[in-house]
Amino acid sequence: MGWPPRFFLKRIFPHCCSVGYSLKIKIREKIFGSSSFGLSKKTRENSQNMTSSPDGDIIIPEHIAIIMDGNGRWAKHRTMPRVAGHRAGVESVRKMVKSCRESGVKVLTLFAFSSENWRRPPQEVSLLMDLFMTVLKSEAKKLSKNNVQLRVIGDVSAFSPKLQDRIKAAIDLTKDSDGLILNVAANYGGRWDIVNATKLIAKKVKNGDLDIDQIDDAMMAEYMSFADLPEPDLFIRTGGDERISNFLLWHLAYTEFYFTDILWPDFGEDELQKAIEEFSKRERRFGQTGEQVRQELC
Ligand code: FPP
Repeated sequence: MGWPPRFFLKRIFPHCCSVGYSLKIKIREKIFGSSSFGLSKKTRENSQNMTSSPDGDIIIPEHIAIIMDGNGRWAKHRTMPRVAGHRAGVESVRKMVKSCRESGVKVLTLFAFSSENWRRPPQEVSLLMDLFMTVLKSEAKKLSKNNVQLRVIGDVSAFSPKLQDRIKAAIDLTKDSDGLILNVAANYGGRWDIVNATKLIAKKVKNGDLDIDQIDDAMMAEYMSFADLPEPDLFIRTGGDERISNFLLWHLAYTEFYFTDILWPDFGEDELQKAIEEFSKRERRFGQTGEQVRQELC
């Protein structure tokens, strides 16, 4: 039986089970008081015995997308080289994957390297590539063991053949996992994604396979990255800046944004908990009025 059991959800959230509430959010846990959020495995196991619901709804986003910013500054504060910040950032990635798995998040998308990051000093780019190689080698088996499916979005053809092979091997090793989906955005840009989708559609129109009037936003979405997955519910950017920086421009149209000054290497389970608590308070209306949304819920 999946967690939480369906009868349990039905009792606490009858609307979710009966009317197929379409806000692309799943209520996973309404079990803990606001001071004790159920991210750790132990707490989650304990929660399975609970039959009543204390105050405070926690809504676990199905899909979280993160811009992991602040590695360089984290290192600088410690008079360390920038690459040490990126290495510490990898540790945060591990923690995030674990927390997301344990809390029932279905998809985690991480912005590891943007199409614009090639503009960084060549030495930093090269060190980042080395780090990706190392991480793919050391983590692929662990991901598979933990039932995490790795996917990569972006134009990987720009990477070295060796790195491309490593990426393919890691994707292949985890392709049958049916737990958390970990999307790593590498040489990714939101504009690139839109241009790419446009080109694919334009080709079909040119070949006479598609009429121009058939093109709508649903069709565009089918040609974008991770078309088979729900769009992100929660977007987090660490490091203090409040911008999208050419991340998932198409996919973030109705996503809730959460910005924090915390630098990525310092972003752990507690910080994720804060972001999810904040997300849980938001009313997602998708163009409707608040009244309509509340009416659908009752
Ligand atoms: C931004 O911080 C971070 C990056 C461009 C790289 C992110 C990469 C990792 C965390 C490691 C690899 C991840 C995976 C998924 C394999 P910044 O350097 O811009 O920091 P700053 O703003 O403080 O200079």
